[in-house]
Amino acid sequence: MSEWWRDAVFYQVYVRSFADSDGDGVGDLPGITAKLDYLRELAVDAIWLTPFYPSPQADHGYDVADYVGVEPLFGTLDDFDELIASAHARDIRVVVDIVPNHSSSQHPWFTGPDRERRYVTVGGDDLPNNWPSNWGGPAWTYDDERGHWFLHLFAPEQPDLDWNRQLVRNDFREILRFWLDRGVDGFRIDVAHGLVKKASLENEPEPFPTNRFSSDWRTAIDQPEVHDVYRDWRRLIDEYDGDRVFVGEVVFSDQRRVAPYLRTDELHLAFNFSLVFQPWDADAIRESIGESLRELPIVTWVFENHDVTRIVTRFGGERQARAAALLLLALPGPAFMYQGQELGLEEVDLPDDVRQDPIFLRTEGQRKGRDGCRVPIPWTRELQANAWLPQPASWSEKSVAAQTGRDGSFLELYRAALSLRPSGSFAWRESQPGTLAFDRDELTCIVHFGDERMVDGEVVLASDADQTAVWVRR
Ligand code: NOJ
Repeated sequence: MSEWWRDAVFYQVYVRSFADSDGDGVGDLPGITAKLDYLRELAVDAIWLTPFYPSPQADHGYDVADYVGVEPLFGTLDDFDELIASAHARDIRVVVDIVPNHSSSQHPWFTGPDRERRYVTVGGDDLPNNWPSNWGGPAWTYDDERGHWFLHLFAPEQPDLDWNRQLVRNDFREILRFWLDRGVDGFRIDVAHGLVKKASLENEPEPFPTNRFSSDWRTAIDQPEVHDVYRDWRRLIDEYDGDRVFVGEVVFSDQRRVAPYLRTDELHLAFNFSLVFQPWDADAIRESIGESLRELPIVTWVFENHDVTRIVTRFGGERQARAAALLLLALPGPAFMYQGQELGLEEVDLPDDVRQDPIFLRTEGQRKGRDGCRVPIPWTRELQANAWLPQPASWSEKSVAAQTGRDGSFLELYRAALSLRPSGSFAWRESQPGTLAFDRDELTCIVHFGDERMVDGEVVLASDADQTAVWVRR
């Protein structure tokens, strides 16, 4: 069977905010099943579902209280089975999110008597070391009842599992099998580089930088032993038919630190976040693409996900975001798009009193957090009054209903680009300053960052009337 993931387009479904079938304001699994025809028409190859497991939702599902069930808010296991069957019937693969670095503090592993056999806990009165949580404050919380500190690189509701324990490794093997047996086509691995912590628990060098790549400077993670975990997982997944895939969330600004996770006996894919952190600038983007292609054995492309500011806002407008669509879908290898990216949704400037992201809550509003990219996507002109995060009134005209069939709409641009997506080898073209150009197959992708235009040949697709980005047939 072909390694379908090598040039697939993955569409990220943030389950809470995709499609709400029962009108409670929160998206759910039957809602996704009902929208599979939309996804098939868009022509994506696979969907990645964010966590839908039973969870107190302290981090909207990235705090899992039962790894082998479905959160009632989102549906039932039967709904999940139906979703998989309906997706497969439409040739859409389904990748689910696995969250192995931490569980919910409500997981029976943590609430039960066995906690110390599975989690990173330390006795004593003093903070075990200086490790900070990614979201403010120390990474340790003291449990008075148990008389120990427990580690949480994220919120205290997300205690870190101890991957130096065989018990934990065995548990996750069973969890992987549970979902593989139910037919999933692969896993997106949350915090894939973080599972194993340095056993000595020694201090991190201070001061702690405040940039986004907290994992760049943490010396306690990215331990050699984490690769044993993925070698083991790879052997396990290879027992299954159907070319199932692991996609690691491995977050380093230096792609040379991501590459080892992609060795042939480890993960198939890892997100390449380098484009997420570039400004809309020809040199910066060329450099980032070039570095990724040089340093990684297989490169994925990502502009948006549920953790970062939407590109309409980040790149300064719809014109840029439309051009980015043609860039994303012309680059060689797997591309990831995030729900609503195809509608040109902008980051929503939400009032503080509706924000729910633990980043916002834990930093007392100093960091606004990620709610602005998580507002439920609009399907109809009539917006959903009880959506769990309010949809701006302007989204009525950005809804799927409003954009479908509308000449020049964002959605129609994505549809056209997905149906014309080029393949074949990649080669840069000489281009003038402020312009990027490269060849794939018989198409050339040209992106103009400034006012100059260099278009030569038959334009197959243009991002806008000004030809900010074009695909040209040579
Ligand atoms: C990365 C996920 O993408 C993010 O949403 C989550 O908050 C953290 N990992 C912790 O699980």
